[in-house]
Amino acid sequence: MSDPLKDKNIVLGVCGGIAAYKAVDLLRVFVRAGAHIRVIMTGAAQAFVGPTTFQALSGHSVWTQMFGEQEDAPFRHIAWAEEADAVVIVPATANIIGKMSHGIADDPLTTFVLSVRAPILVCPSMNVHMYENRLVQDNIEKLERTGIKVLRPETGLLACGDEGPGRLPDVETIAEEVRSLLCPKDLAGERVLVTAGPTQEPIDPVRFISNPSSGKMGYVLARVARRRGAEVSLVSGPTVLADPQGVIVIRVRTAEEMYNAVMETAAKATIIVMAAAVSDWRPASLSEHKVKKEEMVQDLSLEQTVDIVRVLGENKNRQILVGFAAETRDLEKNACAKLSAKNLDLIAANLVGHADSGFGSDTNQVSLFYQDGRNEALPLMDKGALAEVLFNKVLGIKRRADDGSD
Ligand code: PMT
Repeated sequence: MSDPLKDKNIVLGVCGGIAAYKAVDLLRVFVRAGAHIRVIMTGAAQAFVGPTTFQALSGHSVWTQMFGEQEDAPFRHIAWAEEADAVVIVPATANIIGKMSHGIADDPLTTFVLSVRAPILVCPSMNVHMYENRLVQDNIEKLERTGIKVLRPETGLLACGDEGPGRLPDVETIAEEVRSLLCPKDLAGERVLVTAGPTQEPIDPVRFISNPSSGKMGYVLARVARRRGAEVSLVSGPTVLADPQGVIVIRVRTAEEMYNAVMETAAKATIIVMAAAVSDWRPASLSEHKVKKEEMVQDLSLEQTVDIVRVLGENKNRQILVGFAAETRDLEKNACAKLSAKNLDLIAANLVGHADSGFGSDTNQVSLFYQDGRNEALPLMDKGALAEVLFNKVLGIKRRADDGSD
């Protein structure tokens, strides 16, 4: 299972802002991912949402008062702090940010955050003028200097009618930040370039040559690399997927556009993973108007597109270059031919045309072939888990290269 939230103990602090109701949705995202959630609410938060909702959804009583509640008091702030893997405060008001940045501990949430050693994510949400107030900004910067992660609010129309920064990001964005907090940063310092999705090679204004790649494999590779601390660029063909959080996304349509975008980024990349299903062929000419179906049969001639990864392989120095091979037969033979022809360090060969592997599925089954002749068959797994394994293998290749150059 690849979700970093699974089986983690997350403490959710809820403060008194209009966005407090969104903390309920966030709690549900965490629970669906298999995390165990404890909730602490400030007095003001309870004026917006009742603790019963959080209690019902988390399966635990909610901590609302310093004194007088029964469960494991009076050392609850210590016990919860010791078992917490991460803390997230949603919405974080100017008041909680001010108290936290000055070390004040006068309610359950501020007492708890002073005791905790797990990473903390603070998600400010408030009126734009409050948010832009110099005192609030100074307090946020102070939190950041102490190692607390602050997810800056989005800009838009606020509940009070004003416009500007102050909106709470959506709950999936917040959950992704928490996942990132939970991951080891073993790709820190790496610049990772990933390609994803299909390309479309137009025949005329309404038709194109393409393939069924959904982009799922490439997008999860980009997300995992970013969670593990890399700076990530994603060059994506047309997909319906949302941009992964914190990743530079360049959207393209054709193989030629993908080539140009990859070449602009590749020189700076330390790791390149080519998961895109790039069309090998494109129509030799593009018709300005819709081609009549009778003419199509006679006139559709094709020419080869540029082999992007082959060009990368020819110009490679100390980069790690990973390709995928989409095969319907002779997996090993075809994958090994591509590995050597394209000068790859590693190729992940997947059988396509199966419901649970290759195009469109959430899972994939690949065999890995290395430049030094090693190979290993991996079991069927979730594409997120496969992305984790692939980056572990890339780090292994880097370590071997570093040891060899000592
Ligand atoms: O997107 P999903 O629905 O999640 O599906 C994932 C996937 C099946 C698309 C992915 O796992 C995969 O196999 N991607 C590579 C598909 C492919 O184009 O394979 P290939 O064997 O034709 O190409 C070999 C390698 O050369 C690939 O790394 C490819 O990106 C690259 N290539 C191919 C053609 C070309 N003109 N330029 C290239 O760089």
